[in-house]
Amino acid sequence: MDKTNIRRFSALFQPGNIGRLCLKNRLIMAPMGNSLADGDGYVTTAMLDYYRARARGGVGLIITQLTSVSSNDMMPYSLAIYDDKFMPGMRRLVEAIHEQGAKVSIQLMHPGMLLLLLPSLPQSMTVKVPIITPWMVAKKPYHEVSQKDIERYVWDFAEAARRVMEVDADALELHACHGCLLSTFLSPATNRRTDQYGGSVENRVRFPQKTVMSIRQKVGRDFPLTVRINGNEDVEGGITADEVVQQAVILESAGADAISISSGLEYWSTLMAPPYSAPEGLNISVAEQVKKALKIPVITAGKIGPELAEQIVRDSKTDFIALGRPLLADAELPNKLRYGRLEDIRQCLYCNNCLRSIWRSCTVNPFLYKEAVLPLTPVRSPKRIMVVGGGLAGMQAAVLLAERGHHVSLHERDTELGGQWLVACAASGKQGFAAFINHLRRSLDRLDIPVALATEVTLEQVLVMKPDVVVVATGAIPQGLDVLRSMRCNVVQANDVIQSKIETNGRVVVIGGRMLGMEVAVLLAQQGKEVTLISRSRLGGRKGPDEKITYRALMRQLVELRVPLYLNTTVLEITEDSVISRLEDEVLSLPADTVVVAIGIKPVDTLVEELQGLVPEVYPIGDCVQPGNAAQATFGAARLATDT
Ligand SMILES: Cc1cc2nc3c(=O)[nH]c(=O)nc-3n(C[C@H](O)[C@H](O)[C@H](O)COP(=O)(O)O)c2cc1C
Repeated sequence: MDKTNIRRFSALFQPGNIGRLCLKNRLIMAPMGNSLADGDGYVTTAMLDYYRARARGGVGLIITQLTSVSSNDMMPYSLAIYDDKFMPGMRRLVEAIHEQGAKVSIQLMHPGMLLLLLPSLPQSMTVKVPIITPWMVAKKPYHEVSQKDIERYVWDFAEAARRVMEVDADALELHACHGCLLSTFLSPATNRRTDQYGGSVENRVRFPQKTVMSIRQKVGRDFPLTVRINGNEDVEGGITADEVVQQAVILESAGADAISISSGLEYWSTLMAPPYSAPEGLNISVAEQVKKALKIPVITAGKIGPELAEQIVRDSKTDFIALGRPLLADAELPNKLRYGRLEDIRQCLYCNNCLRSIWRSCTVNPFLYKEAVLPLTPVRSPKRIMVVGGGLAGMQAAVLLAERGHHVSLHERDTELGGQWLVACAASGKQGFAAFINHLRRSLDRLDIPVALATEVTLEQVLVMKPDVVVVATGAIPQGLDVLRSMRCNVVQANDVIQSKIETNGRVVVIGGRMLGMEVAVLLAQQGKEVTLISRSRLGGRKGPDEKITYRALMRQLVELRVPLYLNTTVLEITEDSVISRLEDEVLSLPADTVVVAIGIKPVDTLVEELQGLVPEVYPIGDCVQPGNAAQATFGAARLATDT
């Protein structure tokens, strides 16, 4: 236990009050939706495990994920509390969190426009909006909320609040940010009504205000109630800081016990879960302004690391810190801070793999949503395991296999560990990604795992070492471009440019519109290069990106940096000084002194085939099986380690 480190975070570990609720520290788990509820909105065992782990990790209060208050409007696989039938499950959830020493608040929500996040809507649902505006012509059915609807939703919220109180939760939170129904009423960007619920700040806040008052009538003056609002919507015509302060004051007098400040409209902007490129602590300044105007405490979220958290609580800029993704990355974060174990923290990278629509997980914590398998059980008969490849998958597998008690060695062809992840770390704004390699390196040291660098493992070497198991994590290499090209043209790979292994000359054309192509184009434009980007399909890939926040941030950078974008454009030929391509039925010639290729990667899997039948067990993992994102790589490693 490092006593100096413990003193460093003393402000965070002072108790604090929200209304009558006393919390043991200033760290709150921010509400975070996941798909752990069953299809009907009930609590599941996996959800209990997930929350238990976070409660055990030392956080003072857990605010649950969004919980639907109205039967006709809910996000699939998220919690619901629109009927008494959900109360037994909710009670189990509350008990599970209490048993581990944390308090619990249930976040109540009507999704409103959050339903736009779904690829398609169930037939019975419509997207409830304050007013139908001209842009709402897309495929989704919209429904303009009437005054009668408002009365009904106010009632729904109050009834849900009664249930929250009756299942012995410690508090409830009203979700009024990120573009859910209440939030769209607060926002001048989405609320253009002309009745008593639109127009002035007082009118726009009326629906949330009535909701708070109605909840108060139902649960009494003492039941702790927080309201979460946006401090910044990150859209043109969105809420201003002055208005946020006015809204907070009105909500305080309506009966809120704390105001929580978040930001962003989930379907439009980038700040709901600010990506790696966003500044740290981006909501602090608005939160501070709100705090100055209120008597009740303020909660602040949004990329707040431990040092900053300590400083802003110490300086009374906020009373509580809501931690979101950092607690997905490391459920034990509060305990590690409290007991000075800073080196052990698995730092969140803000890579937003936890927000992917298709494969949602955490890069640095492959056991997210699978907490039941932890801690890993020790093996009865340790095996001698060679891990070939020191990228993320290989390093993570080596660490976990060694933690289970196997005798592991790690072999890397390069002179440095990290593989493709080193490219990620070199991209603009991603320096923080190196924290994960450092964490894995420290774990390899702690476990005394022999690491052989600059070692190309051959079949012969494997046969000499006679391991019981070979884990092949040899990764992938960039794809080449299959078009006619002049011998004298300068064609380079995006990875080499990002890692500064190669300098581009003159005018640059980037080929490839997925994340890597967008990143390299941003990097070059930031360096003042003249860059054009060509993509065979739309930006983000043919089906679109499956994590939209980081994508939007990159797209915005490309536009701000004025990078010309040629989308749905096919490259036909690369000449000495141009890229010839086809856009619809036009043939274009784009001047290019350097062509940067960013069109994906292909597996390096030769060792897998060579070893088959010669070693008792061979397991390929990571990109050498199928190129994927970093969270998929570490998840593959974790699955192998739990099964081997
Ligand atoms: C996976 C995920 C789900 C989220 N779901 C919710 C939610 O249900 N309700 C809510 O108010 N905020 C939600 N948020 C926003 C977080 O509460 C938090 O404000 C945001 O992640 C910024 O904090 P952080 O930088 O500490 O992660 C979600 C964020 C993430 C990453």
